[in-house]
Amino acid sequence: MTHFPDNFLWGGAIAANQVEGAFDRDGKGLSTSDMLPNGILSPHQSREERTPGIKDLAIDFYNRYPEDIALFKEMGFNCLRLSIAWSRIFPNGDDEAPNEAGLAYYHKIFDELACHDITPFVTLSHYEMPYALTERYNGWGDRHLIGFFERYARTVFEAYKDKVKLWLTFNEINMSLHAPFTGVGLPEGASEQQIYQAIHHQLVASARAVRLCHDIVPNARIGNMLLGAITYPYNCNPDDVIAAMNENNKWLFFGDVQTRGKYPGYMLRYFRDQGIDIAMEDGDLDELAQASVDFISFSYYASGCASADPKQKEVGNIVDSVPNPYLEKSEWGWLIDPKGLRILLNFLYDRYQKPLFIVENGLGARDDVLHTGEINDDYRIAYLNDHLVQAREAILDGVDLMGFTSWGPIDLVSNSTAQMSKRYGFIYVDRHDDGSGTLERSRKKSFEWYKKVIASNGAAL
Ligand code: BG6
Repeated sequence: MTHFPDNFLWGGAIAANQVEGAFDRDGKGLSTSDMLPNGILSPHQSREERTPGIKDLAIDFYNRYPEDIALFKEMGFNCLRLSIAWSRIFPNGDDEAPNEAGLAYYHKIFDELACHDITPFVTLSHYEMPYALTERYNGWGDRHLIGFFERYARTVFEAYKDKVKLWLTFNEINMSLHAPFTGVGLPEGASEQQIYQAIHHQLVASARAVRLCHDIVPNARIGNMLLGAITYPYNCNPDDVIAAMNENNKWLFFGDVQTRGKYPGYMLRYFRDQGIDIAMEDGDLDELAQASVDFISFSYYASGCASADPKQKEVGNIVDSVPNPYLEKSEWGWLIDPKGLRILLNFLYDRYQKPLFIVENGLGARDDVLHTGEINDDYRIAYLNDHLVQAREAILDGVDLMGFTSWGPIDLVSNSTAQMSKRYGFIYVDRHDDGSGTLERSRKKSFEWYKKVIASNGAAL
């Protein structure tokens, strides 16, 4: 008895800007990601300042996708989460007509997946948007973005409606609070007022995409995508519990709007307390109310801790947390907490009562290639095994879990730091931080491990 459902979706997750390369090929416009050659933790460049970066070629998935998809199939994937680069389809974002070469490219990818019986699971916007939209419109700060995104979503739903039945709107939509340029195309120093206004536009656009997807694509399911930043109280002092509640509300807000269809009371209070005033148009709240997502997806890498005591120093990159003395950290300082995944799954299922999907989880680590060519990544196997065991526990707890797509099943460029050396893959890619390497692919020890896990539907854990 494996406890994973028979129709469980097993696979991996990648994002266009971290794998494809070909940043200026076949009519693609510059994206916001193309202006962050050093990753989202560094300031973005302007068009004039732009310097080449490792993502310009990334792992050349643009050309090498047949080989990579064949390797995914060899591992037994029945699902691949990937994203469409919006700027391949609408190079400037406000173009009247789509770029046919961009549409043709993703047709080839979906056809290749179909040949291997791998279900495509597509994110409309994974940490990128056409850069021109930030120059001409101030990104999502401008309401026009809702219409441009609607045109893009309609175009890809119509183009791929027979090939793609599983969709997500915005990757880690709550990330805008930490990285506004990446999330909503606003400058790094944007105020909370500006960021929440932009987020409102993005939430309306997300709701519109949900409705469009249901109208255009027969039998499709569309979900949201949260950075599952579950935060514990540092101790049982009620002040710490409230500090943790407030931290959790910061990201649950997005899930609440996308699932329950309205702004929650705690957020309205926060806006009042901070003097934030969101401009809305008639109909916005109705749109939110009428477009609840079909399922909730999330990434999970680490839990966090919150304390009301100002002496407790916050650490971390991207999402801050008070150190948790019970947990180990990854080389990049991310807390490793497999049981947190079970807690998060139960928490989200209890709150929303909708199916859940773990769309990202994995360990970023340096790998050593032995002289024999072997890569013995036991640390990665241990990390993923421990997390999947906890996912199984959550299923036993009664959580309806649709699938698991591990992050970066093939090494790719890191989002936060644009490093190749922060590797997540079962498949090694011979490319290095300085851009050297042959791009050759090879199987790590974890490749065989994941293959057995999938073949046994989790019994091998
Ligand atoms: C998630 C993103 O935040 O975490 C991915 O959706 C990202 O795009 C992943 O790559 C891991 O983060 P990093 O910084 O290690 O690449």
